[in-house]
Amino acid sequence: MKLLKDIDVAGKKTLVRVDFNLTLEDGKILDDFRIRATLPTIKYLIENKAKVILMSHLGRPEGEKKEEFSLKPVAQKLSEILGKEVKFVQDCVGEEAQNAAASLNEGEILFLENLRFHKEEEKNDAEFAKQLASLGEIYINDAFGVSHRAHASVKAITKILPSVAGLLLQKELEVLGKVKDNPDHPFVAVIGGSKISTKMELIESFMGKADSIILGGALANTVLLAKGIAVGKSMVEEDILPRVKEMDITNNAVHLPVDAILCVDKEGKGAYEIGPITRTPDNQMILDIGPDTEKLFAKILDGAKMIVWNGPMGLFEKEHFAHGTKAIAEAIIKARAFSVVGGGETVAFLEELGMIDKFDFVSTGGGAMMEFLSGKSLPGVEALK
Ligand code: 3PG
Repeated sequence: MKLLKDIDVAGKKTLVRVDFNLTLEDGKILDDFRIRATLPTIKYLIENKAKVILMSHLGRPEGEKKEEFSLKPVAQKLSEILGKEVKFVQDCVGEEAQNAAASLNEGEILFLENLRFHKEEEKNDAEFAKQLASLGEIYINDAFGVSHRAHASVKAITKILPSVAGLLLQKELEVLGKVKDNPDHPFVAVIGGSKISTKMELIESFMGKADSIILGGALANTVLLAKGIAVGKSMVEEDILPRVKEMDITNNAVHLPVDAILCVDKEGKGAYEIGPITRTPDNQMILDIGPDTEKLFAKILDGAKMIVWNGPMGLFEKEHFAHGTKAIAEAIIKARAFSVVGGGETVAFLEELGMIDKFDFVSTGGGAMMEFLSGKSLPGVEALK
């Protein structure tokens, strides 16, 4: 795979695929982590006199131009962060984009409107890729977060322009590649979140590789149920119970919660209590890990050399049920292992707590990180090879 530093970008129109799929509320950006993670590539290009054309998707507008999915506020945010003008065009292809790209000077930045306003993007359409490619001379993929999608701006375009990996993509592949293929031991994987169906392959890929696999969040409920432990009204994925039962869940490396914070209502209305995991009343839900579990998990994490974490331990959007996730974050930081964290919600939570900088590596990938660590090849990465 060719890397950005292998090529000469001076004076060249570089078309950079970034993943600025950020969380916005009423046009306000709630989390600019993915922008900041891409700054090394953008700054490198500016310093090396490239003409920078950025393209991204935002949300899932399903091929239609919808104002709430406009990347304009994101372009403004980038401009603020860089302290530099970022030109913006209303469409990622067509005359306006062509003219803007053609009149760029060295070191200037142009930001294109949402790629997914065109349905051809998600179809990996060759003609659409050609239109995008005509804006630049070199293609740079710096969008690890979307590299698991075989989309036109990720895959088809690499057949048209000389293509390289940007600095963020390179770093993601280096760090996550180490976690996947050659982790330092003791190696602990912490996997939380709500759906076991989306993380089964990830968990299985760590079996036999990780010294310990810690499971928390609602996904652990389905595993508990598969082991014959009643979980009351807790969220479970009944339909995939047979598949979960086939997993090696009695494996010594797998650690499940031993107690939980229980409540009859997931909004946290009404009394909530701490109970052992084996005795969840029929009318209650498991909404967070309990204090004994926090201690148990912290003990497992203590002494680890490498830790990878994806997904919360409870319903952390609600204050009452955020304690377990925070405790795990603290335990990982205290463990002094090389720590890797990923997953949009987990990262946003850690940012809110001001803890994100304490982790050694924060992946910009959600689905992409999971697929990569599960051993799947990512179309965007394969296309660069
Ligand atoms: C993400 O946020 O995981 C990526 O930007 C991919 O988004 P998608 O799941 O809508 O393809």
